[in-house]
Amino acid sequence: VRKLKAIVYGVGAMGSIIARLLLEKDVEIVGAIARSPNKIGRDLGEVAGLGFAAGVTVTADARPVLAQCAPDIAVVCVSSYLSTMREHFRVCLEHGVNVVTTEEESIYPWTTAPDLAAELDRLAKENGVTLAASGAQDVFWINLVATLMGAAHRIDAVAGRCSWNVDDYGPEVAAVVRVGDTRAKFDRHLREHGRSDFVVRATLETLIARAGLRIGSVKSSVVPLLAEEDTASRSLGRVIPRERVLGVLDTTTIRTADGPTFSLEMAGRVYREGESDLNEWLIKGEPELHLRNDHVPTQLATCATVVNRIPDGIAAEPGLVTLDRLPQLRYRPAQLALPA
Ligand SMILES: NC(=O)c1ccc[n+]([C@@H]2O[C@H](COP(=O)([O-])OP(=O)(O)OC[C@H]3O[C@@H](n4cnc5c(N)ncnc54)[C@H](OP(=O)(O)O)[C@@H]3O)[C@@H](O)[C@H]2O)c1
Repeated sequence: VRKLKAIVYGVGAMGSIIARLLLEKDVEIVGAIARSPNKIGRDLGEVAGLGFAAGVTVTADARPVLAQCAPDIAVVCVSSYLSTMREHFRVCLEHGVNVVTTEEESIYPWTTAPDLAAELDRLAKENGVTLAASGAQDVFWINLVATLMGAAHRIDAVAGRCSWNVDDYGPEVAAVVRVGDTRAKFDRHLREHGRSDFVVRATLETLIARAGLRIGSVKSSVVPLLAEEDTASRSLGRVIPRERVLGVLDTTTIRTADGPTFSLEMAGRVYREGESDLNEWLIKGEPELHLRNDHVPTQLATCATVVNRIPDGIAAEPGLVTLDRLPQLRYRPAQLALPA
């Protein structure tokens, strides 16, 4: 076997943890990409707070690194919307480098961003590589639920409820749920720009695809979650005053053309002292099935899941490999390596 070569593309909250996990799985990190001047030119170990030098300088432009270092995988943790990720994915795929990403929409973008999904799928195929997304959804909202659905004889409805803490992630995530907005600013933004419910939809649509069902109608709503008292945000490094937005509750219901209804309520907000992540699902039908995980360690689980998905992404057929097509996720106890 030979060492797997990776680049960490986006050295924020997720990329920094992933850098440590990669090194602990004996992966050779050959490049690190960031944007802000206070990160560029410094050692990855220092920027990611690893406590030691990684021997890799953080740079702004991915192209020379991709061209010169020929990585096997780019672990891309930059932002949330597929539309904003297009160029980042393109540059990796065009250089013949596989991508695994935390970007949520890429989990299943076939209906929310069909043109972009088709374009990236084509580009990946042309270059003989894959684009695969993973994250907390992979295990907790999709694979656990899909497995439990396999214990049902008849399903009438699948209903999920989950929450996560904005402070487990970086400013990109806080911006997506509009932390710090006044209610008026939140409402104005919603009126003018709408809100893409792709995180929730990608989850539900993967479950629907896994079950071989067809999407019928989709209904979504968004409610801002306001601070009841002044609340400190670690991620933003400031206090969110009372009555400002702490996060949002996104709810989507998809009625399938085949009958069963799928819904998910997802609350992403800055937590107060003592709150923890929740993941709860009810499968109504025969028999009724229930799943509940309290205190989900979403931050670390997200990163470990993404790293454990690397071999699956590399082994898959070239193209955009949505989560419904990836094999069962498994624990990777040893080094991540490739056949020599
Ligand atoms: N699926 C999941 O379970 C899950 C969980 C958490 C996060 N996520 C996703 O992962 C993304 C990253 O999360 P995070 O918490 O790590 O966010 P973050 O701390 O804000 O980090 C984002 C990183 O991307 C870099 N970046 C942004 N724009 C860039 C550009 N144009 N060129 C190069 N680098 C750029 C930033 O660089 P600078 O710091 O230099 O500006 C930063 O290093 C989120 O937006 C979200 O989509 C998914």
